[in-house]
Amino acid sequence: MSGRPIRLCFVCLGNICRSPTAEYIMRELVAQAGLDQSVTVDSAGTGDWHVGDPPDRRTVEAARRRGFRVDGSAAQFSTEHFARFDYVIAMDRSNRDALQELAPDAAARDKISLLLSWSDSGEADVPDPYFGGPSGFERVIDLCEQACASLLSSLVRQHHLSGTPGA
Ligand code: 4NP
Repeated sequence: MSGRPIRLCFVCLGNICRSPTAEYIMRELVAQAGLDQSVTVDSAGTGDWHVGDPPDRRTVEAARRRGFRVDGSAAQFSTEHFARFDYVIAMDRSNRDALQELAPDAAARDKISLLLSWSDSGEADVPDPYFGGPSGFERVIDLCEQACASLLSSLVRQHHLSGTPGA
C-alpha cells in the first residue's frame, strides 16, 4: 500500500457501547484482510458524559461471548476531528445530525455517513442499547458485523486496496 491510510471514525452518543463495538469489529476485519497499513480505525461520542471511561461492561461481556475484545477509553468528537478522519460513520440518525451540526464546511459534511447505509439491512439506526437488556448488545454486534464487512468491501473496491490476509 502506498500513500497514507484511510482513516475511519465510528461515532455514537456515549462512545462506550455502539461505536467501540464497531471499532473493534472493524479492527478485526481489517487485520484479517491484511489491511492494517491501509486502514486505521477509531471511535468517539457526540456526548461528553463518559469521556475517559472504558467501554460499558455489558458491551465488553457481549463481545467476549462472541469471541472478540472491545477496549479503549471514551472520547468526545469535536469539530477538529473532521480533519483527522476520512470517514465519520454515525451509528444512528441522531448521532449523524449532531455531527452535521459540528461539521465546519461541506467537505466535512461529505465525510459523514450512517453505518447501516453501508449494509443492506434495510434499517437506518443501530439502536442504543444503554437503557435496555442484554439482547440489545447482541443486536448491536449483529448489525455492526454485517455493516462493517460491507463497508470494508466498499473501501477495498473504491480505494483499490490490496492486503495480505493472514499476514
Ligand atoms: P452509546 O450508548 O452511545 O452506544 O455509547 C450510550 C451510552 C451512554 C449513554 C447513552 C447511550 N448515556 O446516556 O450516558
